[in-house]
Amino acid sequence: MIKPIKISPSILSADFSKLGEEVMALEKAGADYIHIDVMDGHFVPNLTIGPEVIKKLRPLTKKIFDVHLMISPVDKFVKDFINAGADIITFHPEATPDVSKTIDLIKKEGKKVGISLKPKSQINLIEKYLEEIDLVLIMSVEPGFAGQKFMPEVLDKTRNLWKIIQENNLKAEIEIDGGINFQNCVDAKKAGANILVSGSTIFKENNGDLKKNIGILRTNK
Ligand code: DX5
Ligand code: ZN
Repeated sequence: MIKPIKISPSILSADFSKLGEEVMALEKAGADYIHIDVMDGHFVPNLTIGPEVIKKLRPLTKKIFDVHLMISPVDKFVKDFINAGADIITFHPEATPDVSKTIDLIKKEGKKVGISLKPKSQINLIEKYLEEIDLVLIMSVEPGFAGQKFMPEVLDKTRNLWKIIQENNLKAEIEIDGGINFQNCVDAKKAGANILVSGSTIFKENNGDLKKNIGILRTNK
């Protein structure tokens, strides 16, 4: 059964000098989640924000904080992100020595857990954890930067994953992240993704009309 479409705008493309206002504007514009990209300059070649910034944003919205950790190690920081207000924590399996332990750490705190696959990372890397997790985040660009071009080759992986989820009646949702625009969002949905992350399209198309852009991403078929 197709799961409802959710839009998770990435604040990496927001104006960091007024991040609080941007998050409130996203809520008003109809975002389902707020996607927060955390990078450490080590697991990925870029640096972004950490728990202190998330903590400051937390009182400004009730929206779900969808925290995408592109950091290694992971376990050492899980509690900090949960205390800061993360609702979903997604990590990369290559970034942690014991994936089960990281999953348990997040679930023990009552938070949702996601595992992310880089464009070249295959499903077999995470298949055995599928029953325990809430979502799989398929990266459709190499993690590290906003504004990159969507890699259509990840659609096959998305379709295969969706098939496994359906055949086994699993609750896991599929989120897709990187280079999503008004055209390829249709392909992503058809392939089985129901949570769409978008930075550049939401903040830059139609002169930054957040509501319009979120609406188009949600409804384009
Ligand atoms: C990339 C991040 C993405 C990115 C999305 O490493 O995980 O969330 O910021 O931005 P766009 O939609 O511009 O590719
Ligand atoms: Zn992301």
